[in-house]
Amino acid sequence: MNNTVIAIDGTSASGKSTTSKCIARKLGYIYVDTGAMYRTLAWYCLKRHVDLHDDKAVATACQKWKAKLVCVDNQVRLLVDDYYPEKEIRSSETSAAVVFVAAVPKVRAWMMKTQRDCIKFGNLVMEGRDIGTNVFPETDFKFFLDASLAERHQRRAAEGVSENIAERDRRDSQRATSPLMIALGALVVNNSGKSIEDTADFIVAEIEKRRRK
Ligand code: DC
Repeated sequence: MNNTVIAIDGTSASGKSTTSKCIARKLGYIYVDTGAMYRTLAWYCLKRHVDLHDDKAVATACQKWKAKLVCVDNQVRLLVDDYYPEKEIRSSETSAAVVFVAAVPKVRAWMMKTQRDCIKFGNLVMEGRDIGTNVFPETDFKFFLDASLAERHQRRAAEGVSENIAERDRRDSQRATSPLMIALGALVVNNSGKSIEDTADFIVAEIEKRRRK
């Protein structure tokens, strides 16, 4: 398939979601939030009382759940038993649980395959932690977003969410499988003090520049 993928990776609360949605809107692409997929599995495991520290049990849950991809209003969603747990996946409980499921190698293999499947919907702006390194390493359009820790804390607090961002980044960066890291060829964009619109415009301009080459 010849569809294009724009990979947006980065640290927690670095503005990946809002910036990616803005880029998708500007380009008429489909937005994919891969973090939401990991969060959905974490929520599902909590709901089913699967022990999050038992990698085997988490992997089994992931291989057996009835999950399917749909595309609604230019955004990909992962449904479980035909349900989209939009609010539930943002709870503090799910946020605290997600690092454990995201570290399980079999879960990452399932997610990678499912995320690669999204290409069937069209051109994508896909955000996550390992899109440029593992999911679509072949794309020419890789970006890594970051911002100062103080600003990232402020952004989460403004959303009414209290969480230890530095700890989550530490866990995401230190896990053995597909850790959070800057992909080869990725452009690092530090958006401290910048608006979403400015960051999205900068990335879109960079994509256009690369296309002209
Ligand atoms: O972007 P987010 O905060 O919704 O991501 C939730 C968690 O999922 C985060 O701790 C890292 C993990 N994640 C991942 O390991 N790989 C991805 N491609 C996306 C998210």
